[in-house]
Amino acid sequence: MNLSEELDKIFEEANRLIGSSVDEADLDKNKNEYLGKKGKLTSVLKNLASLSIEEKKTVGQKANDLSKSLEEIVSKTRENLKTKGFKEQSEKEWFDVLRALGETEPGTLHPITKIQYEIEDIFTSMGFEIWDGPEVETDFNNFGALNFTDDHPARDMQDTFYLENGNLLRTHTSAIQVRALRKLKPPFKIIGPGRVFRYEEVDASHETSFYQIEGMVVGKDISAGNMLYTMEVLLSRVFEKEVKTRLRPGFFPFVEPAFELDINCQVCGGSGCSVCKQSGWLELMPCGLVHPNVFKLNGLDPKEWTGFAFGLGLDRLVMMKYGIHDIRYLHSGNLRFLKQF
Ligand code: DAH
Repeated sequence: MNLSEELDKIFEEANRLIGSSVDEADLDKNKNEYLGKKGKLTSVLKNLASLSIEEKKTVGQKANDLSKSLEEIVSKTRENLKTKGFKEQSEKEWFDVLRALGETEPGTLHPITKIQYEIEDIFTSMGFEIWDGPEVETDFNNFGALNFTDDHPARDMQDTFYLENGNLLRTHTSAIQVRALRKLKPPFKIIGPGRVFRYEEVDASHETSFYQIEGMVVGKDISAGNMLYTMEVLLSRVFEKEVKTRLRPGFFPFVEPAFELDINCQVCGGSGCSVCKQSGWLELMPCGLVHPNVFKLNGLDPKEWTGFAFGLGLDRLVMMKYGIHDIRYLHSGNLRFLKQF
């Protein structure tokens, strides 16, 4: 067999072997056997020295052509192996995203969210509009426009989270009544639910963040009687029974007169227990008639307009409704607690 015939034979063999590679590692091994430094094709070329110049040319040329063809076969085979690899992988490694899971647990609304929605329904059924406001407020919207003097203790750093730019995290949803007063044309009835922030020591009844619903009614000849009636409708619907109320004097710079609205204790029914400290009453909702200065500060004439406002603490209400003794549960993210609602 001359060198040229030998080359043909090697090529045929190489072609078959490379084509039958089972994976890329196998392919590399087979390639090496023919095209590597000590490969069969390479060693044939080493024997060229013994040939005549004429033969060197033709056989050399042929060997080069064959090695080029083999390189092409190698890269084609490599591509095929890759696709095959992906195909096999995708057949082996898959999962059905629509597969029905054995046990799924649907999420539930947080009790604060639930009570917020309930109260929103009650108020919208009485013709109130729902208003919103940002958690980061200006000092003016949170304090100034509500008739807080510059040296009012509530502005103190101990109560308020101030931001570097002079704004603050709103300490109450009363900032929402300011926004409504400035935007709406009276008469109007709004509630404004939201999260509020105070720099406070955390304990069973205090959190640095909690939820309120602000309410405001502005119109002609609005009286404390209108306010009380609205509160009683609200409470009897939240607690699903007649709730006794009483008003005590309170103090807030943006209402005059200001009241604290108490309800008869929902735990003992009014006979006295540890929750109501034997008094039979629970403090629930501060409220009052809109202070004339608040109208003035927000561009309305206090001789023309009257109104009432209230602030309802949602955490407190949830605690009363479900008999929860520690506010920290509400913000704990504890699923065993939350799943009960
Ligand atoms: N903003 C008050 C607070 O968080 C609560 C409040 C009191 C709201 C009296 C009112 C109100 O609208 O009339 O302490």
